[in-house]
Amino acid sequence: MEQPKPHITEQYSALANIYDEVMKDVSYAAWTEYIDRIIHEHHPDPADLLELACGTGTMAVEMSHLDDYNIVATDRSPQMIGMAQKKAKKYGSGVEFEVMDFLDFQLGRTFDVIYMVFDSINYVHSESEIQTLQRNAFDHLNPGGLFIFDFTTPRNSHKAIQYLDKMSGESGPWRYRRSSRYEPDECIHINEFTIIKTGSEPDETDQRYVEKHRQKIYTLDEMLTMVALSPFSLIAAYDGFTLNPAGQKSLRITMVLQRSESDSDVA
Ligand SMILES: C[S@@+](CC[C@H](N)C(=O)[O-])C[C@H]1O[C@@H](n2cnc3c(N)ncnc32)[C@H](O)[C@@H]1O
Repeated sequence: MEQPKPHITEQYSALANIYDEVMKDVSYAAWTEYIDRIIHEHHPDPADLLELACGTGTMAVEMSHLDDYNIVATDRSPQMIGMAQKKAKKYGSGVEFEVMDFLDFQLGRTFDVIYMVFDSINYVHSESEIQTLQRNAFDHLNPGGLFIFDFTTPRNSHKAIQYLDKMSGESGPWRYRRSSRYEPDECIHINEFTIIKTGSEPDETDQRYVEKHRQKIYTLDEMLTMVALSPFSLIAAYDGFTLNPAGQKSLRITMVLQRSESDSDVA
C-alpha cells in the first residue's frame, strides 16, 4: 500500500512529542549544576532567572529544585511549552512557562540571570539577529545581571555526525529517525527528523511528520566579534562543561556576559 505523504511541520511541533526520548542520554542534572555553578561564580545574589529556548523544560524544573530561584522559562514552540508545563506539574515545580520568541519580547520586568542552553543560539542565522537577541537580553537584566548561553563550533559538527546521523528511537506511539549532516561551506548543520505516530486503532494509518532543522555554526572568533558589538561586557568563554577558557579545539562553548553594575538604564 502507498504510504501517505508526510506532513512537513514547524520545528519542534511534532518533535515535542518525542524530544525527551531524543535527549535521553543527556545529563540535564549535571548540565544544570554546571550552569548553577557559573551563576554563583559570577553573581553575588541571584534570585530571578529567565530561561530562553527552554524546550520541554527539563533544565528549568531541575534548576527550580536546586536553588531558591524564581524562574520564568520560555520557548517559541507552543508544543514544547505544553510538554514543559506537564513536566512542571508532575514534579511539583513552580516554574512559570510562557511561549515567547527570544528575537521579539518585552516582558516588562528584569532578571538577575538570563540563560539559554543546548546550542539554541545556533538557530539564529544572522549577525543582526544575534545583536537583536543580545539587546533583548540586555534590556531584561538588572545591573550586574548575567546572560549565559552556549553554542557549538564547526569542530563539533564534524565530530557529531557519526553519532547523530541515523539515530532512532521510540516512546509510546511515537518513533523517530534522524539524519544529520554538516555543510562546511555555509557553516550550516542540518538535522532532519522523520517522526511517526502509530495509529491507535488497527485500521488507523500512521501519521508521518518531517521537520528540518538548520543551525548556523559559529567559531569562537565569530562569537567574540558579535559580543564585542553588543552592550555587554564579556566575563568568560568556557570550554565544554568546565571553567577552563575556550579555545580553537572547543566543541561547545559557554559564554558569560554581564550588564555592567553602573548601567542603570533598565528598559
Ligand atoms: C536544541 S533545543 C534546546 C531546548 C532546551 N534548551 C534543552 O536544553 O533541551 C532548541 C530550542 O530552541 C527553541 N528556539 C529556537 N528558536 C527560538 C526563538 N527564536 N525563540 C525562542 N525559542 C527558540 C526551539 O523551539 C527549541 O525548543
